[in-house]
Amino acid sequence: MKKPTKNKEWFENEDFWRETYPFMFPEERIASADDTVQKALSLANVKGKSALDLCCGPGRCSIALSRRGFSVTGVDRTKFLLDKARARARVAKVSIEWFRADMRDFVRPESYDLALSMFTSFGYFENRGEDEKVLSNVFQSLRPGGAFLLEMMGKEILAKIFQPSSAETLPDGSMLVDRHQIIDDWSRVQNEWTIIRMGKVRKFNFKLNLYSGRELLEKMEQAGFDPVQLYGNMNGDVYGPNAKRLVAVGRKPKRSVSRT
Ligand SMILES: C[S@@+](CC[C@H](N)C(=O)[O-])C[C@H]1O[C@@H](n2cnc3c(N)ncnc32)[C@H](O)[C@@H]1O
Repeated sequence: MKKPTKNKEWFENEDFWRETYPFMFPEERIASADDTVQKALSLANVKGKSALDLCCGPGRCSIALSRRGFSVTGVDRTKFLLDKARARARVAKVSIEWFRADMRDFVRPESYDLALSMFTSFGYFENRGEDEKVLSNVFQSLRPGGAFLLEMMGKEILAKIFQPSSAETLPDGSMLVDRHQIIDDWSRVQNEWTIIRMGKVRKFNFKLNLYSGRELLEKMEQAGFDPVQLYGNMNGDVYGPNAKRLVAVGRKPKRSVSRT
């Protein structure tokens, strides 16, 4: 009997990352990584020089960290994006370990002083327990005293700016039509992106788990991070009504026991 095939999860679709690459990672966003990493370093305030860039994508932050003398592991599950990262690192003449893995599986006990999860790379799993597994993996992978900085869209911010649909013309002349729905009592946002490029229409559906500041902080505390500090942007402003992003910095205590 044929084995039933499990439906692919949205983030496993390489076409999604290939088709969205031109507007998800324009040159300005790649160039801004240097400034972002500088800010991440001042918020995380770590002593050591070993870093994990979790869900590194095309390696923007990995390369910026490496340029600052960090020894970096860039982890991502998308081959297309890791190939981009490798090519960029070659041009930048930096040496980085690129590792293809799912964030639910990647653990390297006590190997890093700093871990980053940037640009909404968290909240991808239908089962929230898997988000918790990611936090626990990062906690285990940090050295005592190390820090995890996570930067994403927060639920409070989305509630403030939410629009059910929008359309924009992209720099390459293609068109992006977004439709969003808040589902499961504000637990998730369901997105439908339609890209019209040279007369060809591609549609992608994906869901993201939503976390309020408090919810994220509690999840990080449950994973063992102590303390956890929230910010409303990478400048370290308060996570309040004017927040633009949800930024959480969790520290692994100098002496700690993993709780999960
Ligand atoms: C929005 S991009 C952010 C990329 C990068 N952090 C940045 O700041 O440019 C999200 C990244 O998560 C990766 N990703 C998605 N699901 C993943 C999973 N389950 N395990 C590991 N990486 C995953 C994607 O391939 C993509 O590179």
